[in-house]
Amino acid sequence: VVTRIYLDFAATTPARPEAVEAMQPFFSEFGANPSSLHTEGRAAKAALDAARDCVARLLGARANEVVFTSGGSEADTLALAGTARALRSSGRRHIVSTEIEHHAVLHTLDALREDGWEITLLPVDKTGAVDPAAFEAALRPDTALASIMYANNEIGTVAPIAELAAIAHRHGVLFHTDAVQAPAYLPLHVQALGIDMLSLAAHKFGGPKGAGALFVRAGTPLAALLPGGGQEFGKRAGTENVAAISGLACALDLAVRERAETGARVSALRDWFEEEVMRRIPDVRVNGAGRRIAHITNLSILGLETEPLLLRLDLDGVAVSSGSACASGALEPSHVIAALRLETRWMQGVLRFSFGRTTTKAEVHRAVEVLEAAVAHQRSSTPAFQTKRIGE
Ligand SMILES: Cc1ncc(COP(=O)(O)O)c(C=O)c1O
Repeated sequence: VVTRIYLDFAATTPARPEAVEAMQPFFSEFGANPSSLHTEGRAAKAALDAARDCVARLLGARANEVVFTSGGSEADTLALAGTARALRSSGRRHIVSTEIEHHAVLHTLDALREDGWEITLLPVDKTGAVDPAAFEAALRPDTALASIMYANNEIGTVAPIAELAAIAHRHGVLFHTDAVQAPAYLPLHVQALGIDMLSLAAHKFGGPKGAGALFVRAGTPLAALLPGGGQEFGKRAGTENVAAISGLACALDLAVRERAETGARVSALRDWFEEEVMRRIPDVRVNGAGRRIAHITNLSILGLETEPLLLRLDLDGVAVSSGSACASGALEPSHVIAALRLETRWMQGVLRFSFGRTTTKAEVHRAVEVLEAAVAHQRSSTPAFQTKRIGE
């Protein structure tokens, strides 16, 4: 039996037992609709309020600035499309973002472009960093909103959010950040960050899938995309998923309290992993160097294709992710890797390893061994790689 080693925490994290326990009562004895006026409904409402107070406290926000959603994608979509709807008659028609945002942002921007919005996607440098001066230069008198992710989910690059938000505000532009990868590793205080909107997804920090939140600073123009019954301060209708929201609040509380300790441990494991890989495997690069979040490492392995390598690792018990999306049968570099504008040969053989709270040194050690063996094996059977080596 092959022991499984899960190194895909950026894709999702297992729900923490404490979060599962926090959710349990809302499937049974406290299962009423929080909008109901009877005793049972008020008990559910009290739990919802408690979860909202908890999230608000952890973000440094007010309770009525926290809107619960079905996850990170919905939070991102609400931030962008909700603001765009609210500002459609304002005369402002321009939004600034970056080439390396999650598809939750990029595809929403595509839809807004079809609705007549002008979108500027800023390029990034080879490390995935956005240049604050280029950001400022992209802002125009008719720019309504900027959206820049806190930490990139493929390469881990961390953007200087407080600096960028301050620049946006100097130009009267609203600022949203997709902080979906951040909670377990980076400070989330919305006053220190100075942002207007911030997206979260519970399953990235030990909470359940299908629950998220959008911080919306009081006074930020935002129209509901689901107007329905007026829940969530009229910003997102639908009977609240009290169980999942309680799990989200519990997991966020733990993530924030344990952040310093988890961050130090996980970044040490990640750094050690990279050192070992560089020492033992020739012709490998780490993508996205610079200021990076603790849990993500993205490698380019020269001369190899991503998919066979990923499947080999999987057979040997190591679960990782590709930095590539499969388009029309051909493996093409993901939009994030493409945005780094690396030489073509470094845009293949891209793998993302992402570590988590429960990752052990023994697992990381084993993952290096498995990767080393898989790379050696695939290279020995890749004539193209041998030719390339000779040609260098
Ligand atoms: C940076 C980022 N934004 C948004 C999302 C979307 O979150 P969800 O899957 O909860 O909708 C993810 C995760 O897939 C992510 O990593």
